[in-house]
Amino acid sequence: MAIEIIGTGRALPARRLTNDELVAEKGIDTTDEWIRSHTGIGSRYITDDETTSGDLAFEAAKNALAMAAGFAEAGGAEREAAAFELAQTLDAIIIATAFPDYIGCPSTACIVQHKLGARKALAFDVTAGCTGFAYGLEIAAGIMGIREARKRVLLIGAETLTKITNWEDRSSCILFGDGAGAVVLEKTDAPCAGEGRRGLVNSVLFADGGGGESLLIKKGGGRNPYKAGEVVDIPPHLYMNGQEVYNFAVKAVVETVDTLMKAEGLSAEDISVIIPHQANARIVQAARKRLHIPEEKFYLNIEEYANTSAASIPIALDEMNRGGLLKKGDLLLTVGFGAGLTYGGNAIVW
Ligand code: COA
Repeated sequence: MAIEIIGTGRALPARRLTNDELVAEKGIDTTDEWIRSHTGIGSRYITDDETTSGDLAFEAAKNALAMAAGFAEAGGAEREAAAFELAQTLDAIIIATAFPDYIGCPSTACIVQHKLGARKALAFDVTAGCTGFAYGLEIAAGIMGIREARKRVLLIGAETLTKITNWEDRSSCILFGDGAGAVVLEKTDAPCAGEGRRGLVNSVLFADGGGGESLLIKKGGGRNPYKAGEVVDIPPHLYMNGQEVYNFAVKAVVETVDTLMKAEGLSAEDISVIIPHQANARIVQAARKRLHIPEEKFYLNIEEYANTSAASIPIALDEMNRGGLLKKGDLLLTVGFGAGLTYGGNAIVW
């Protein structure tokens, strides 16, 4: 039994802002040169006030489902109908998100399940920050592995972190972008180990809750609820200790890749591509040097999208897939790290 990716999709808000445009619009005390040299970011996509993580998730899901149903290209009523038809066969919908449509309930996955008409699918959200997609893959494999009848899962990473960005904090507000990426996973008869193995081969997943306060939405949950009559001087936002997160992230990428390589007996030559969470190009470079893995093995698209949190790995996967950059048999490693603190990754044979 193998858990294979049979379709990928992504959705980005229509509005793209370059660094210069963001700086001018929000009045941030920084420059394009600083942002590029310290993060590798050149632009990001930002939602309007009405669009939520669930809306982007729904669009990405339709694109992934359409591809899985044999309609890779955009547009067309037939394609849309095929996506909805395949949605009827889904056994589960999982959404990894750090900013769901509602706090606690209902889950964003239930909202998307309803919009897709996927009545057979169980649905829930995963809260694992930017590691959510890596966690979600392993959970999806477990859901399919434990019951013979479950064959298909839709896994989505969807974020609108620019809605909880503190535009007064120049070290964090330049980092984030919005977007969603989705994959359709199917249980197949291919082997998942040995010769000819396919799909999800391994996952290593970690958490270090002791670092939770370095990446945190302080206001609005049970620890710090809003009180009647309270005046809010700043909207709820993501607080970040940049240096602590940076140091953690470099170690997290090294440990994840190293653990996966050792577990699978891999050398750098065996790996076709490593898809890291796109948080900061410097984090990837620092980790890459410690791992002694050539630069060209790492896929980076942070310049275009900035940090889209749990969506960054599935967006990259879809970009590579649609761009013809993935061949059957390629060995991919994903590496996520983020709020929790959480980190980890997956080994996938395409
Ligand atoms: N423009 C200009 N200067 C800035 C700036 C900006 N956008 N952001 C911070 N600075 C300044 C600081 O004010 C500080 O100035 P000072 O020395 O006069 O006080 C100086 O740059 C150095 O700050 P520091 O925080 O050490 O910068 P840095 O080189 O570590 O870069 C981050 C800051 C946020 C880019 C970096 O820490 C980082 O990427 N951290 C990880 C963030 C991340 O990945 N989060 C998501 C994880 S999923």
